[in-house]
Amino acid sequence: MNIESLLEQMTLQEKIGQLVQILPSVYDPQTSDTVTGPVAQLMEESGLTEENRFELGSVIGINQAEQALRIQQNYLKHNRLGIPLLFMADIVHGHRTIYPVPLALASMWDISEMELMARQSAIEAAASGLHVTFSPMVDLVRDARWGRVMESTGEDVWLNGEYAKAFVRGYQTDDLTRSDSLAACVKHFAAYGAAEGGRDYNTVDMSDRELREFYLPAYLKAIEAGARLIMTSFNVVDGVPATASTYLLRQILRNEWQFDGVTISDWSSIKELIQHGVAGSLAEAGEKGIKAGVDIDMMSGAYLNHLEQQIEEHVVSIDLVDEAVRRILILKQDLGLFENPYRGIDPELEKRIHLSKEHRDTARRLAEKSCVLLKNDHILPLAESQRIALIGPFATSTDVLGPWAGSGKQEEAITVRDALDEANIKYVFAEGSTVDAEIDWDQAMEVAKQAEVILLALGEASWMSGEAGSRTDIRLPKTQREGLARLATLGKPIVTVLFNGRPLDLREVVEHSDAVLEAWYPGTEAGRAIHRLLFGHAIPSGKLTISFPYHVGQLPMRYDALPTGRPMTIEGADPRYTSKYLDAPNEALFPFGYGLSYTHFSYSQLTLCEQSKESIWEASVLVTNEGTLDAEEIVQWYVQDPVADVSRPLRQLKGYERVFVKAGSNREVTFRIDASMLMYQHPDGSVKADAGEFILYAGSDSTCTLHETFWLKQTIEKEQFDEHINDRSTSTTR
Ligand code: GLC
Repeated sequence: MNIESLLEQMTLQEKIGQLVQILPSVYDPQTSDTVTGPVAQLMEESGLTEENRFELGSVIGINQAEQALRIQQNYLKHNRLGIPLLFMADIVHGHRTIYPVPLALASMWDISEMELMARQSAIEAAASGLHVTFSPMVDLVRDARWGRVMESTGEDVWLNGEYAKAFVRGYQTDDLTRSDSLAACVKHFAAYGAAEGGRDYNTVDMSDRELREFYLPAYLKAIEAGARLIMTSFNVVDGVPATASTYLLRQILRNEWQFDGVTISDWSSIKELIQHGVAGSLAEAGEKGIKAGVDIDMMSGAYLNHLEQQIEEHVVSIDLVDEAVRRILILKQDLGLFENPYRGIDPELEKRIHLSKEHRDTARRLAEKSCVLLKNDHILPLAESQRIALIGPFATSTDVLGPWAGSGKQEEAITVRDALDEANIKYVFAEGSTVDAEIDWDQAMEVAKQAEVILLALGEASWMSGEAGSRTDIRLPKTQREGLARLATLGKPIVTVLFNGRPLDLREVVEHSDAVLEAWYPGTEAGRAIHRLLFGHAIPSGKLTISFPYHVGQLPMRYDALPTGRPMTIEGADPRYTSKYLDAPNEALFPFGYGLSYTHFSYSQLTLCEQSKESIWEASVLVTNEGTLDAEEIVQWYVQDPVADVSRPLRQLKGYERVFVKAGSNREVTFRIDASMLMYQHPDGSVKADAGEFILYAGSDSTCTLHETFWLKQTIEKEQFDEHINDRSTSTTR
């Protein structure tokens, strides 16, 4: 298809139509729309008419092959130039087979597994006719009050970027025309996770250096991995709504990053420029959106109602519309839609691949690797001969898919109780309470008295996190905490399994439980994964990628914090005048990188030597499995830059490796450091590594103390480093 000649044939109304995204029900009354935002008024204001209905560019929320086929066929009968519709949806952690939520998946510290999850999700979604997924969400998050933390991969800038690349590779492969690929839409640009007070949609305000050092890199990594779309966020950055920000959308995205893909607003976020107070009308909001560089208006009606007149009155240049339409048409072309508007749609494959054994097995394995063992006082693994009391709302709850569960169906999920029954494990049962209301803790106490060990399944309902799911009290609901405290009076060992979308304040849970397994929302195979872990058929290996605070009052918190001028760690410091709380520790209850196993690993013999004058170092550490079970450990490498032009984090993750170590043996783990890992954004905007001392830490979580010092002899600029790397890579290929 010759895009330029197609563009020339298009009327102004047809061009504007391509910039509009609407719900599929406008084309298919049988469709029950997947609504992820305010909708009633938006549809009234959409500007939709019988005349322009078959000129729109995309729909949001297709989820079945038959539906996609029906809509596309009908649409192409009416679209004058035969330009196919784009089908987009939120495939965030699965389409019909639901994998653990992203914050759980991140706890695997396993890039290839994350990529596999995205690949299988794309295979299922493409068979249903999807072309684009609104994923990965790469927003950096340091505040567990924010409900969308469950969608993120946590608080570390580097790890978020690694996962961002894995998602994009998994969805897109290296050939977007493949019938089983999905174009990735990275979101939410930008810094949506830094909402003040952890309150969704709230103001974001930070220095440009903070934005570029911590919040932007993961979006860039997704783009460098080939993400074809990016979604603007609801929040303001430096007072300007992201959806109207020429700084973000043109200066950074187009000029600095050379992004040539499609930009799309989040749901009605163009219209919301009015609520933000930067537009006095829907027309002005649309003008600001198109001038800032938003190509597709998702569900606001601003473009469809007003752009035509604004072009005719020269308020908006037709060039802005043309550049947006061009990018959308190129995306459709690169997806192969002009050759085959029905690419991917396959009702037979859909039946075969959705919830296939292969995908369910993957979902179960990933759920096992995503769970994080937070406490285990020699209780786990359980023996099947033990008399077990299964208690709590999540013993039988199917609310284990979590928010953004695509087309997953709760009734297809395996509960904890289902899995115990499948394994013929004997137990007595009592629910005790729902998520937030007592049923009968007295009865649960009587049931617990019959058992040797109490298996307690507690958690948040999925609506208590996710979008618009912010909480100021991040403890378990009161009735659950009361039930746990009562059960603890029996003096029997308690194993608590948690289902939640955010880091919780777990002080009471830890106090009353002998073992605590963080299961997050494990997805379709939840119960089977948890059963295998609890009874030792699988060994917990997950590690947190976000801090669990001691108390919500510590938030926002991060392991890569700055030292401050009055750290508590200074020898001889006056204890009063140090950076601390009077009523809580500074540290997390469970820190970034933390997670237990059924064995124990120790670290020793950390060595570090410079490889050459090229400022490359090779580190090595000995990891010993001190226990009686073979198991995997996630070895973590952190670097500190103790003296720099700005105050630098106490440490930052620079690498990790999942290693299998046989019981009673050890293995050497190596790590290569180069100057790029030492660079940071200087106040003058330059990115470089300063000459001077650095400290390397190796260990099992972000509080590890084993360390070695090394020196960078001369300052290295990023440009200089990149050139050197390019020269070296061309020399090696020569
Ligand atoms: C929602 C979310 C966004 C999602 C979009 C479409 O409001 O903010 O993450 O992709 O709408 O469902």
